Amino acid sequence: MENQLRQIREKALESLAAIEDSQALEQLRVQILGKKGELTGILRGMGKLSAEERPRMGQLVNSVRSEIETALEEKLCEIREIEKARRLADEAIDITFPVEERHAGSLHPMNLALDRLMEIFVGMGYEVVEGPEVEYDHYNFELLNLPKNHPARDAQDTFYVDDNIVLRTHTSPVQARIMTTRKPPIRIVCPGRVYRSDEADATHSPVFHQMEGLVIDEGITMGDLKGTLDAFARQFYGEGVTTRFRPSFFPFTEPSAEVDLTCANCHGEGCRMCKGTGWIEVLGAGMVNPKVLEMCGIDSKKYTGFAFGMGLERLALIKYNIPNLRLLYENDLRFLTQFR
Ligand code: DAH
Repeated sequence: MENQLRQIREKALESLAAIEDSQALEQLRVQILGKKGELTGILRGMGKLSAEERPRMGQLVNSVRSEIETALEEKLCEIREIEKARRLADEAIDITFPVEERHAGSLHPMNLALDRLMEIFVGMGYEVVEGPEVEYDHYNFELLNLPKNHPARDAQDTFYVDDNIVLRTHTSPVQARIMTTRKPPIRIVCPGRVYRSDEADATHSPVFHQMEGLVIDEGITMGDLKGTLDAFARQFYGEGVTTRFRPSFFPFTEPSAEVDLTCANCHGEGCRMCKGTGWIEVLGAGMVNPKVLEMCGIDSKKYTGFAFGMGLERLALIKYNIPNLRLLYENDLRFLTQFR
């Protein structure tokens, strides 16, 4: 019996040393100390011993049992530590691991420019108004003092839908629409797409964008126009950018002007963008022709007004230093994602 006991002890300690997880440890505990365990078997067998032997064997069994129990206890602590460390290692998150970049999208430079334009004009008290892109000849030409067979119609290579309907060639028809439906004071800007049958190249596209401006009230002068456009130029391109008016002709304004802005790229020094002149032509403007006011039902004795129309592509190209108009339409992500 003593031998058996020694064997149980040695085998137990040996197995214990090799154990690495708590399940195997529990199995070992049951195998030795459980109801049907090896050591329990020995205790049961004690009944067969003589009365002299029993106390000594009892002591021996107890000391082996407590030795094994302590060893099991210690092993359990050890295993818990190991298992905890293993779990921590398994669940560790490497916060330095590079993640796949998500493309959240960005605004198109034309939208960025348009947003800024509207912000500036709304800041000056203007209302943003839109009109249809498929437009009556009546608004696109007639009411703007461009009767049928007027030579200036040829200058705007028009897409005709039929005799009376066109794809609008400018945003000016929106001012005609507003003048025929509202009473002064009027203060509006009208952004939108316009169409002309031009060949596409680095500076032309059959579809492009304009923004029309119109102010009508008592006592509006060319000085108001100049002051407004100067304020716009400064806010859009920064201090030091002003306007230069050159006499011109539009049937719907009298007098009319082509308006240049100081080249925002070279600040008037002269560069490639402004072809060395220091100025960039961006808009047409003038005092609304009294004939147009009358045709639209506004008393030209009481009211005067100014109007302007600007090409948005040109404004955006200069603002963001974009060398070619086509970049705006090709939707190349390498280009677009530069604007955020
Ligand atoms: N509609 C003209 C164009 O497309 C631009 C323009 C010039 C608009 C003078 C105006 C204006 O309102 O007053 O070329």
